[in-house]
Amino acid sequence: RIAAVDALEILDSRGNPTVRVFVELENGTCAAASVPSGASTGENEAIELRDNNSTRYNGKGVRTAVDNVTKIIAPEIVGYPAENQAAIDRLMIELDGSENKANLGANAILGVSMAVARAAADSLGMPLYRYLGGCGACRLPVPMMNILNGGAHADNSVDFQEFMAVPIGFDSFSEGLRAVAETFHALKKLLNSRGLATGVGDEGGFAPNLGSNEEAMEVILEAIKKAGYQPGTDIAMALDSAASSFSPDLKSSYDLKWSGGGTLTSDAMVELVKKWATDYPIVSWEDPLAEGDWDGFNKITAQIGDRAQIVGDDIFVTNTRYIERGIAWKTANSVLIKLNQIGTVTETIEAIRRCRDAGWSYVISHRSGETEDTFIADFSVAMDGGQIKTGSASRSDRVAKYNRLLEIEHELGQEARYYWRKP
Ligand code: PGA
Ligand code: ZN
Repeated sequence: RIAAVDALEILDSRGNPTVRVFVELENGTCAAASVPSGASTGENEAIELRDNNSTRYNGKGVRTAVDNVTKIIAPEIVGYPAENQAAIDRLMIELDGSENKANLGANAILGVSMAVARAAADSLGMPLYRYLGGCGACRLPVPMMNILNGGAHADNSVDFQEFMAVPIGFDSFSEGLRAVAETFHALKKLLNSRGLATGVGDEGGFAPNLGSNEEAMEVILEAIKKAGYQPGTDIAMALDSAASSFSPDLKSSYDLKWSGGGTLTSDAMVELVKKWATDYPIVSWEDPLAEGDWDGFNKITAQIGDRAQIVGDDIFVTNTRYIERGIAWKTANSVLIKLNQIGTVTETIEAIRRCRDAGWSYVISHRSGETEDTFIADFSVAMDGGQIKTGSASRSDRVAKYNRLLEIEHELGQEARYYWRKP
């Protein structure tokens, strides 16, 4: 049973405050969890509570959220068995009382939710992936490694936010990871040889001033080949346009600042996405349209959804309400899963359940602001979706997740599974 709950304001990978929660059980088990934070957030995400006190951290302090954990949530959940995850999560949702966790803050609630799960696993002597996923949890996710950053995650001249290398042709997680890490190094050499910057963006990918999205895709293809791999068979590409970030009205017009073209209508953007998806070996395309452009999403899914996974991030915000609408309307065929978009472990699992029921895939994801917490590594194995997006082969906040997955693979030994699922 839960004996005590404590919380602390810590820093995330961008140097902004975030919440760390500690849960102690009566048997002496003590577990901690840290909450991530996004930059290109969807409008309908659960609310991340900030102090808005401009004298501290430019208003981004989270002391109120910390207080909400220690003064409001803690007294209510002390005494609960930590295995009662769903009941504890429901209790926090009721305590908050709002639609989007605006009162207590999704950062306060999620910190407790994750720490409770970890405490329960620890006290049962189980790794987190086994506790959350059961004895059948043995599949390592295919990593979508973000090797080139643009958009809101970098200060360079590339419109799309994330260009990822996906090791689809390998037999194990460690071999797949090696191949994309080698591609990351090959890309660095290529950029260097062209006199381009090799400083990294928020998620650890390079952020060179390339001038267009096509150039970014071309240089990645070259890097894959330079590393000794076959584009499309060994390593494919995945993109996250994060199109809401260059759509002023979030639904019908798109300003491609760098890739020529100027302002595009939704139909023109759909055509462009279709063309690029034909020209390049792209197996997964996240947020190709803006979060309010449900029609555009429907069109692109109808046109290329049989060839590429169309992943909804800002449009679904890990919320069953929007995922259900998307399933009914055939808006996409995959969902990006971020725990802090919805705010509890239980609701995240519920969102994944809807995906599975509809035959949709799902990708467990980090945020651009992360910590050393590796919860999502275990979570991705537990949820058995076979895909994770957790940044590049640089920055310890990203690499920590890959290293945890390597540990899990090692622990599973011969029982470990790894394969890419076609859409
Ligand atoms: P965010 O970016 O964490 O800044 O929202 C990640 C993503 O868009 O997938
Ligand atoms: Zn995204």
